[in-house]
Amino acid sequence: MKKYVLVGCGMRGVLSYAVPMVKEFSDCAELAGVYDPNKGRMKLVSRLCEKEIPAFDDFDTMLDTVKPDAVIVTPRDCDHAEYVLRAMEKGYDVIVEKALTTTFENAVKIREMKEKTGKNLTVTFNLRYHPLYKRLKELIASGVVGKVLSVHFEWLLNTNHGADYFRRWHSRRECSGSLLVHKSTHHFDIINWLLEEKPVRVNAFGTLRFYGPNREERGERCLTCPYKKKCRFYMDIEADDELRQFYYENEAEDGYIRDRCVFSDEISIEDSVAVNVEYSGGAIMNYSLTAHSPYEGCRLVINGTDGRLEATERKDQIVDYKEVSAQEVLIFNRRGEKIRMEIPLGNGGEGHGGADEMIRDSLFRGLSNDTLGQNASAEAGIMSIAIGMAANISMKEKRQVAIGEFLEELKEY
Ligand SMILES: NC(=O)c1ccc[n+]([C@@H]2O[C@H](COP(=O)([O-])OP(=O)(O)OC[C@H]3O[C@@H](n4cnc5c(N)ncnc54)[C@H](O)[C@@H]3O)[C@@H](O)[C@H]2O)c1
Repeated sequence: MKKYVLVGCGMRGVLSYAVPMVKEFSDCAELAGVYDPNKGRMKLVSRLCEKEIPAFDDFDTMLDTVKPDAVIVTPRDCDHAEYVLRAMEKGYDVIVEKALTTTFENAVKIREMKEKTGKNLTVTFNLRYHPLYKRLKELIASGVVGKVLSVHFEWLLNTNHGADYFRRWHSRRECSGSLLVHKSTHHFDIINWLLEEKPVRVNAFGTLRFYGPNREERGERCLTCPYKKKCRFYMDIEADDELRQFYYENEAEDGYIRDRCVFSDEISIEDSVAVNVEYSGGAIMNYSLTAHSPYEGCRLVINGTDGRLEATERKDQIVDYKEVSAQEVLIFNRRGEKIRMEIPLGNGGEGHGGADEMIRDSLFRGLSNDTLGQNASAEAGIMSIAIGMAANISMKEKRQVAIGEFLEELKEY
């Protein structure tokens, strides 16, 4: 039986780790403590787990009291480094949500702390467990397209999911590092993992022309907005059980308003980005992220010496926001053949296409073998955010950015 503590009692921490740990992994994992500056959200953990979970007023006291086998870190992205560093320094292994951190400075500190303490650090890149991306890893590793020469990767967020990043802390660059760090860390990790190369140079453009102060009719938050009856982005924070319990009922404590206007002039991130990346082995990538698409999904094209692979994930949004999902892979080889595969989702599509269920199994029960390398290391965490952080600098300074300017080992490129 392993003991865990959790810092960050938001939806991800509680619904994806705390509750499943208590309800599905009680034979091998004990949730022995939680910490969040918001006491109301800490209390909610016990309510949703249907079991009394010790709640601590202070992170260090929690570690010193519980002495856990590992610390699960799930607050806002900008807070990760603080807890990762303190946990490792005190001698504990860490499981941290993506994005590992939001700055190069903290990435280097985490790497140095890991080297100094020898503690384990796992970044929970759940997309590596998604059936589509797992299959792509197997296919690329088996050499279906030969050596990878170039990648085109388009990621689409619809106006349900995409808009949600513009309502809360994600919309502030200092909290999330922008979507290029917060969201794209998943996508850059997948490409780094498939290519087994390091990103070395980045060029990026980005705009905020859909959300943000691009509409006259806007308010401070949905709850009090004079336009709520006609706004298609209206979100009823009182009607939705989860939003109400997690956020609305606890907002007096810390001022975390979950239903801020997606057209606010305080938004400081982009909703459309275009990024070019050059890799250490010579591969190049075109990547784009759109946060206001009519449907959600991605299109990933990999061109290699022996052929081409096209992967599509498409979630059509039906009127009531239910989604219909389809995953397909096409491989074109040099013999003029076309091979088509449909990739079914796991767990009925629940929890990021079944990925969350698989990664929890791996975290709490352990993979019998990890031949594909789905268990992501601190280095993987650093290399994926490196692209997003370099892209942020590229946009700000209007120049191509070498990752070696910030990470010593890539200086030669
Ligand atoms: N892998 C995935 O698919 C996935 C999905 C969703 C979220 N996430 C990640 O999980 C993390 C949490 O996201 P969320 O959606 O639960 O956000 P959330 O806003 O619901 O929760 C954030 C929590 O952090 C707490 N917090 C704020 N400041 C803090 C501080 N200084 N110290 C400790 N806690 C603090 C807040 O009170 C809140 O309870 C983020 O890092 C996010 O990137 C990952």
